[in-house]
Amino acid sequence: MNSFSRTARAHANIALIKYWGKRYIPLNLPAVGSISLTLEALTTTTTVAFRPDLAADSLFLNDIQANDKQSKRVFEFLDRIRDLANISHFATVHSENNFPTGAGLASSASGFAALAVAAAGAAKLDLSNSKLSELARLGSGSAARSIFGGFVEMHLGAKKDGSDAVATQIENKDYWPLELLILITSTEHKKIGSTEGMNRTAETSPYYQQWVDTGPKDMRAMKDAISRKDFSYLGELTEYSCLKMHALAMAANPGIIYWNPLTMRLIETVRELRAGGLEAYFTIDAGPQVKVICKPENSEQLRAKLREIPGIKSILHTRLGGPAKLLDS
Ligand code: DP6
Repeated sequence: MNSFSRTARAHANIALIKYWGKRYIPLNLPAVGSISLTLEALTTTTTVAFRPDLAADSLFLNDIQANDKQSKRVFEFLDRIRDLANISHFATVHSENNFPTGAGLASSASGFAALAVAAAGAAKLDLSNSKLSELARLGSGSAARSIFGGFVEMHLGAKKDGSDAVATQIENKDYWPLELLILITSTEHKKIGSTEGMNRTAETSPYYQQWVDTGPKDMRAMKDAISRKDFSYLGELTEYSCLKMHALAMAANPGIIYWNPLTMRLIETVRELRAGGLEAYFTIDAGPQVKVICKPENSEQLRAKLREIPGIKSILHTRLGGPAKLLDS
């Protein structure tokens, strides 16, 4: 094999029904299903080149050589691709995010989705979206969803080998033109990553079993809200899943708190604005940023109101995005 290089781009996603907890850590199998929206404005672009002249793998994130922890996860991922393609060359990986990394903006989701597509392409593997989603999941659970655009379901799956713990598209991005405002409250790197946070929660939170048990009901309800395009129902379920996830993480030992005072203030503000007739709903991942879901006709007015709150570093505005894809084909 000569050298092969491919570039892929994937979008971040935001979960409406959260993934939090694994039922089998070695294969990164989720303990609950999840439902997300793929986001147009937040992307990772990754180039993978397998080359015969390399003595080791290397990883660059936004042009800076990655640390050992980040590199290990990516190099293990490359091993899986090499096994599948039956090749032995090492690779260089260059990955660029167009948004702040490590601050709870799901860089691992777009990151491993883009890596899966670029690495499979570079290794000349012709894989289905389902297989790409399975591979992306092995890198990061939420990444399985970023293979698809629009409204996406991550299935819990039942098989031991994890081949059915993959995402599928519920509806494409044009089905229902929702928009999001992403309020950056802090650009500091998060203290407890999602993997560590969810594993500690599973081990120590007294509410964890209830979370797992009530997961299927939340999934059914959200799919119903999407099929009926019932925005109020979708929004209420989104806040419910978010607060439920954070409550069980807070009840872990030691308790995990991802919020800062501004996060809390924004939760209150979104609810006040809603009570005043400007319909919007919040959700928050493993970090302090607040994502606000709204209809297109309200996004500018909401943005103007939210901009008045002191302390917000920046506001990103996005529509729903499409699937992960190769850029150079
Ligand atoms: C709060 O996918 O980052 O964003 O599988 O351990 O890599 P790993 O976790 P990750 O967790 C995402 C958690 C979340 C909720 C979600 O996106 O569903």
